[in-house]
Amino acid sequence: MKFFVDTADLNEIKDLAATGLLDGVTTNPSLVAKSGHSDFVSLIREIASVVPGPVSAEVAATDYDTMLAEGLYLAKIAKNIAVKVPLTPAGLKVCKHLSQQGTMVNVTLCFSAAQAILAAKAGATFVSPFVGRLDDIGESGMQLISDICTIYSAYPEFNTQILVASVRSPMHVVEAAKMGADVATIPPAVIRQLFSHPLTDKGLAQFVADWAKTGQTIPTAGNVQPLKSSRT
Ligand code: G3P
Repeated sequence: MKFFVDTADLNEIKDLAATGLLDGVTTNPSLVAKSGHSDFVSLIREIASVVPGPVSAEVAATDYDTMLAEGLYLAKIAKNIAVKVPLTPAGLKVCKHLSQQGTMVNVTLCFSAAQAILAAKAGATFVSPFVGRLDDIGESGMQLISDICTIYSAYPEFNTQILVASVRSPMHVVEAAKMGADVATIPPAVIRQLFSHPLTDKGLAQFVADWAKTGQTIPTAGNVQPLKSSRT
């Protein structure tokens, strides 16, 4: 399962990229506004230089002609740009056009299995079902992921990856992984939650304390005399 970070905060992206566990980045207009950046194109260029995997950059227009022109421009910024378009008739038309010319496309704002079928038929590289926002209105975001996994696996000609979005907790990530979703795009705070468990902290504190009692240190430099194998 691939992990993308769902943010336009460059410092967060650099910090998480340093873990070596980040496979890509998703941004959206709200995240760009939150980042305070006033030059979207240079922001996307810098993100794409930090993370080698797909970086989703969303179009701003909603009509076909302008969305297509924006998408063609964004795609030129770097090879790892995935143009993000909304799941509307015009957005899917742009998706088809860009996909056919080899550009990665992330179809966003997916809230139903029917919409996910359309995204796959339009040749989307990624479809982004928003699980948290469905939970917010009393529906089941994870049921939608399950439905899309079932449908896509029945059609080998669908090459669209399921990118679980609007993730609010580690359980969303775990449930998505159990269902076989391809990608989860996760807010930085939730990625950090994935690492943590109180028993890990407690156990590590104990190991550190017990090791100190031994009065030993493990060398970090110098030659090591490896054990000669008894079989050779
Ligand atoms: O990037 C799209 C999606 O992940 C947004 O999440 O938390 O605003 O519903 P959220």
